[in-house]
Amino acid sequence: MSTTAKPTILIIDDDSEIRYSLSRVLSSRGYQVVEAPSGEQGVATVKKSPPDLVFLDIRMSGMSGIEALQHIRSSNPKQMVVLMTAFGTAQTAIEAMKYGAFDYIMKPFDPAKVLALAENALKAHAEIRAVGEYKPTINSEDYKEGIVGSSSVMQDVFKIIGQVTASDVTVMVTGESGTGKELVARSIWKHSHRAAKAFIAVNCAAIPDNLIESELFGHEKGSFTGATGQRIGKFELCDGGTIFLDEIGDMALATQTKILRVLQQGEIQRVGGMETIKVDVRIIAETNKDLEEMVKAKTFREDLYYRLNVVRIKMPALRERPDDIPQIVDFCLQNLVKQKKARVSKVSTETMAILVRHRWQGNVRELENVVYRSAVIAQGDTILPKDLPQEIRDAVGALPALAAPTPVPEVSMTVPATSAPFDAMRTAVSEGAALARAKHVTAALVPAAAQPALTIDRALDFLHEELGKSEEPILERIEREMIKRVVVAQGGNILKASEQLGITRATLRKRIDELGIRV
Ligand SMILES: Nc1ncnc2c1ncn2[C@@H]1O[C@H](COP(=O)(O)OP(=O)(O)OP(=O)(O)O)[C@@H](O)[C@H]1O
Ligand SMILES: [Mg+2]
Repeated sequence: MSTTAKPTILIIDDDSEIRYSLSRVLSSRGYQVVEAPSGEQGVATVKKSPPDLVFLDIRMSGMSGIEALQHIRSSNPKQMVVLMTAFGTAQTAIEAMKYGAFDYIMKPFDPAKVLALAENALKAHAEIRAVGEYKPTINSEDYKEGIVGSSSVMQDVFKIIGQVTASDVTVMVTGESGTGKELVARSIWKHSHRAAKAFIAVNCAAIPDNLIESELFGHEKGSFTGATGQRIGKFELCDGGTIFLDEIGDMALATQTKILRVLQQGEIQRVGGMETIKVDVRIIAETNKDLEEMVKAKTFREDLYYRLNVVRIKMPALRERPDDIPQIVDFCLQNLVKQKKARVSKVSTETMAILVRHRWQGNVRELENVVYRSAVIAQGDTILPKDLPQEIRDAVGALPALAAPTPVPEVSMTVPATSAPFDAMRTAVSEGAALARAKHVTAALVPAAAQPALTIDRALDFLHEELGKSEEPILERIEREMIKRVVVAQGGNILKASEQLGITRATLRKRIDELGIRV
């Protein structure tokens, strides 16, 4: 620890020999050590003058270590506690972590391990303290919509949502998985005049082709084997409401024809039925497939494509709008706390920097998942870098200047070739000017351009800083990673790889073995 004041460590154990030996090990590093001979006295000492770290024995006469841990942590959730035990049972480990211990250590002690553990715990303690008064970027109460985002690309998405809610225009939402397409569809519905009626989401990819028609349009009794009774389909159930066709690119051509009929005539027929049923349903479709390509390949009906694609909202990938990340993180944390799934409500500056720099391939869904996982394992009230999954901490994509190229959100409008029976569509078309304006505004956005170019020097500085935090020696890590990359880049050719690395083939083979690299 390179803090100016000596960190204080309290040892709570009823065995004076253990207190003595542990105290000697810790004092040898310059820590100020305080001792307590029982759980009760230890808890009192922590309340009176909280130390930076507590070593706490589990088995003590009187108050047990787990009880003492509960007392300590309930009065101060930030208190760092390391439990000590002579019995390494699964139960002890589970209990220790459940009640918020930083870690636990087995007796007899290995002095080097004690010191490494003390150092890690004190580092975490210092990081949590540095977070101080954490100011969340948002108040989740203000986001009843459930959609967060202050980046200009997201602001433009919100504007379009506002514009399409007044009418019944068909909206197609596209974008990578996890970018919030369904959230957008729900938001359009909530703000539309259809809000009092149903919103039904149908995942076209999840339902087998032979069942999808029955699912969407219903069926009559006896219309096919297994149709033992009449069934009302989603379109009928959703009358007056909004239907969300998820993964429409996966819909069979025969079903596409029937969807087209709903759009054109506002009517359906149950499978095996003769009756024509009028339905008033707004359709919002989503896909992450390239429908234009599918139209060319004749696997998606062109006329349906134009009907659906009246207004298109393309959701930007999360890595194209890193400015939104702190808000989304705060939003997730506040929701987790509200739902009592986690107690953690803060993230340290360093953690946030890692999250903001990461290239989120799985978009908001992946970020949400990482925040959840980390919040669950974090001790105290703050997520520290050590709580993040290893792959996020180590990701090469965390380099700032490797961020994706300039995002150009796409909000477009096409006018159907034939004049539709939907007056609403015309209304929407007349709103086209506003949408077109939005398109121009968004196309001019260049947030990523503000990031400095990546130079080798910057990359090395970054590596120096990041790898310095790990216990693994820096050179070993760099060597291992470089060997892996060069071997892969050379297609597994060891000779070529060794030439590029500037070592002999024999040395390369030896290092691959020594460093445990799998090639
Ligand atoms: N802007 C946002 N603010 C807050 N939460 C968001 C945002 N965007 C997405 N989410 C959350 O991320 C998760 C994924 O969102 P959603 O299901 O809408 O994505 P999707 O684009 O429909 O994904 P898929 O293509 O896999 O169906 C949800 O839990 C959603 O609440
Ligand atoms: Mg979806």
